[in-house]
Amino acid sequence: MTHSPAIFILQDPSALYHAAAEEFVRRAEEAVHARGRFTVALSGGSTPRGVHGVLASEPFRSRVAWEGVEFFWGDERHVPPDHPDSNYRMAWETLLSKVPVPPEHVHRVPAENADAGQAAADYERTLREFFNLSPGEWPRFDLVFLGMGPEGHTASLFPGSPALHEEQRLVAAPWVEKFNTFRITLTSPALNHSAAVAFLVSGAEKAETVRAVLEGPHQPDELPAQAIRPVDGELLWLIDRAAGSLFTGGPPERMENAK
Ligand code: 6PG
Repeated sequence: MTHSPAIFILQDPSALYHAAAEEFVRRAEEAVHARGRFTVALSGGSTPRGVHGVLASEPFRSRVAWEGVEFFWGDERHVPPDHPDSNYRMAWETLLSKVPVPPEHVHRVPAENADAGQAAADYERTLREFFNLSPGEWPRFDLVFLGMGPEGHTASLFPGSPALHEEQRLVAAPWVEKFNTFRITLTSPALNHSAAVAFLVSGAEKAETVRAVLEGPHQPDELPAQAIRPVDGELLWLIDRAAGSLFTGGPPERMENAK
């Protein structure tokens, strides 16, 4: 069942980071208690750095059963794990090096492979094996964090990308003209079978795109963030006031817990 998005407008970036960390902790507590593990896919970029910093600090750090958390990534740059652009490196520096998560629970994208397509295939195999998927089945992450670029991309699904129309593979390796590089990314069906997807969006430069994505016409080829609609899961938008400054709120029931 597709839920309508739960949209939270937070006072400032710090409030957004704390709200995202609260979602992580709350869902981790429930998942580890119910199923013995919490599967989460991290996003890259700069916004998640703040969330990771909150999670790695008290009181949040002590609230997570880190031995039960399984880390994945929604996308990765086509660079080695020690490269400054690596999403894995960012997560290691800001979170994974600061909490007692077992190393075998960190499932990074093997983006050091010079062949991006092979890196994507290897990561897909990791996902299929971890989630014990039969052909045609999709992973169901307990939580996926996503960001949104100023032009509406999410993960590494960029406007006009053929990867936006991928319906079979879990992981794709699209060429990204904007950055003149390959990226490795979960596809929209792989993302859309998650139990919860939370967009984390901060900054005035995204305000027009936030409005277009949430209130404008449905055009996922131009605004890939619109392609993310969990088929049977929750969709949350955690937006700071600067990024939400042009959002009119739509029907009142869509604006929840404005903080
Ligand atoms: C990446 C991210 C990307 C990011 C957006 C927003 O690898 O860069 O996955 O999709 O989420 O570009 O980035 P900011 O949060 O830094 O604005």
